[in-house]
Amino acid sequence: MAKKKNQATWGGRFSEGPAELMQRLGESVSFDARLAPYDVQGSKAHAAMLCSVGLISKKEKNEIHKGLDAVLADITAGKFKWKTELEDVHMNIEQALTRRTAAGAKLHTARSRNDQVATDMRLFFKDACGQISAGLAKLIAALLDFAEKNPTVVIPGYTHLQRAQPVLIGHHVLAWVEMFGRDRDRFAAVLDHANWCPLGSGAIAGSTLPIDREFTARELGFVDAKGKPRVSRNSMDTVADRDTFIEFATACAMIGTHLSRVAEDMILWASAEFGFVRLADAFTTGSSLMPQKKNPDSLELIRGKAARMQGNLTTLLTMCKGLPLTYNRDLQEDKPPVFDSFDQTLLCLDVLTGTISGTVVNPAACERAVGDPLLLATDLADYLVERGMPFRDAHHAVGKLVGISEKTKTPINEIPMAKAKAAVPELGSDWYDVFDISRGLKLRENLGMPGPKQVKKQITAWRRKIS
Ligand code: ARG
Repeated sequence: MAKKKNQATWGGRFSEGPAELMQRLGESVSFDARLAPYDVQGSKAHAAMLCSVGLISKKEKNEIHKGLDAVLADITAGKFKWKTELEDVHMNIEQALTRRTAAGAKLHTARSRNDQVATDMRLFFKDACGQISAGLAKLIAALLDFAEKNPTVVIPGYTHLQRAQPVLIGHHVLAWVEMFGRDRDRFAAVLDHANWCPLGSGAIAGSTLPIDREFTARELGFVDAKGKPRVSRNSMDTVADRDTFIEFATACAMIGTHLSRVAEDMILWASAEFGFVRLADAFTTGSSLMPQKKNPDSLELIRGKAARMQGNLTTLLTMCKGLPLTYNRDLQEDKPPVFDSFDQTLLCLDVLTGTISGTVVNPAACERAVGDPLLLATDLADYLVERGMPFRDAHHAVGKLVGISEKTKTPINEIPMAKAKAAVPELGSDWYDVFDISRGLKLRENLGMPGPKQVKKQITAWRRKIS
């Protein structure tokens, strides 16, 4: 059988091309083609730098720039013919460029695919962090709208999924907002870590050529707040490091976990057993068998996607843990989990935003749920503390009243005065007032508490933070 000539850019030393199976295993263009805009951006900056230090002429730089723009235009228009035999996005673009201009053969001067792919991915991360941060801001805005639309609705707050104490529904929603606010901070940190320019690291040991790394860094926006270029400081670390990938996947998995917990709260709230909210038809589905069903599929799928994001993170951690420095081909497999976490995170953020926006509260069901006066048992203990009783004794005294309420099947706030006083002589004649829910909320206006003024203040503060 005639041997196939090796077409690859690295084919010089090989007398035979890779087996078809090797090509199928080794190609990454099926998933890294989406890096094309970053690859072209990086290559244009690299060519500009090569020109600035005299390694290529101005004419060659211009031809490379024009050629890369044309290649990217083809890609964007869907006219580009991706070749798996060229392995990845980098070699596909370089070969297409070289077909357009002979200067293309000079583009890879003082560059390796190792620092090239690191650069592409860092540009991707900076972009992706911005998009996720914007998605988080939209979700937070929808949550604030929801809280604002229901300023007086009170629901039980839960611990152990048992009714604990009454809170404004806005306070519960603001707890979700806090979670997503921390997620935003996490992406700002990932962005900062991605903000170092790898180009110039070469395959592993830089280059003997007189390149200007700061020029490239500045060109690509790898700069600090003052505009000073940020150039990575160790060529071996630069091509081996996948911390940013792992941090990005961690931040996505964290969002996934938060989204999933919110989804679970809402699934409970939308159930007939709770009935606190009604979900919009647009984000629910029916049953193929049971005509009455309306299922909270958007929320269940969000809960399911959280598992996938955790899986992606685990994939990356496992991939890196046993790798010797520096680049190993295993690392090509870093992209599918990262892209998947990104895509699913953005999708889920938008879906939850849509779901929240269409959700309507059922105030009557909420009122029923907080109707049990025992939810204010703690407030009664506080009342006794204000009358001079040590808290431990107050807890015990209220416990006695709870016992009477249970034994006599009388709501705690309907135990006759004489009977109550006999059990707890410290009770004043005003002890029944404690069971007014709005009293309890009005007394909770300290920072972070569920008082109506506090909730309003927090909403305003968050509006400012995301604007
Ligand atoms: N497609 C490769 C990847 O994503 C690019 C780097 C290839 N480097 C190499 N030494 N073969 O990992």
